Amino acid sequence: MYPVELSSSRLTLRELRLSDVDGLLQVYGDAEAVRHLSFTPRTKEQCAYIIDAAVADAQRENRGVYMLAVARGDRLVGAARVAVDERPHSAQIGLALRPDLWGQGLGSELVGLLLRFGFQELGLKRIWGARSPQNQASERVMLRAGMVEEGRIRRHLWTRDAWRDSIVHSILDDEWVPDSPAHKP
Ligand SMILES: CC(C)(COP(=O)(O)OP(=O)(O)OC[C@H]1O[C@@H](n2cnc3c(N)ncnc32)[C@H](O)[C@@H]1OP(=O)(O)O)[C@@H](O)C(=O)NCCC(=O)NCCS
Repeated sequence: MYPVELSSSRLTLRELRLSDVDGLLQVYGDAEAVRHLSFTPRTKEQCAYIIDAAVADAQRENRGVYMLAVARGDRLVGAARVAVDERPHSAQIGLALRPDLWGQGLGSELVGLLLRFGFQELGLKRIWGARSPQNQASERVMLRAGMVEEGRIRRHLWTRDAWRDSIVHSILDDEWVPDSPAHKP
């Protein structure tokens, strides 16, 4: 699917543009924002590379990776990724917002938007996310959206010079309630 453009009351999921590099740096370049993610803070050059790769992925015939901008009006406030699995009924979501906007319900709104995108637009049957066991904000937003805890992947990732477990959450299409308050701010 291309181009992606899907909105909730405060946020829009859209394709990344080359001009998003400074906005993306404010998310992926921020040590607090990436503390629980699989990578260390990115440089501006690395953010530019991520955008280049996203733009290239967006043009693929059988697009499986949706690396998207999260915008509030004209401003990029975060990044989100939907990666379709080898078995294409299922996909993994990832998300990150600028730390100065945390705690206003935007994360919950964004998970709701990603589920709507996955189930309604991509026709997925299962959507999952993997979080650090310490990532309580991620736990809260996924649980609130109806993504139940599925289990622990031990030694899931090698990151920051150590192995890290992940806690997996998931939701199935027939469990998803589009107009549930969980999907609203
Ligand atoms: C996860 C993230 C998107 C949530 O965004 P947000 O806009 O703050 O989300 P919301 O405001 O909708 O909800 C956050 C919830 O986490 C809770 N929370 C935040 N920090 C917390 C902490 N350190 N301990 C416990 N709960 C915490 C908040 O209280 C809130 O729960 P509540 O509404 O039940 O009170 C944001 O924290 C983020 O971008 N983190 C960095 C990237 C990341 O970790 N992504 C997830 C990878 S799986």
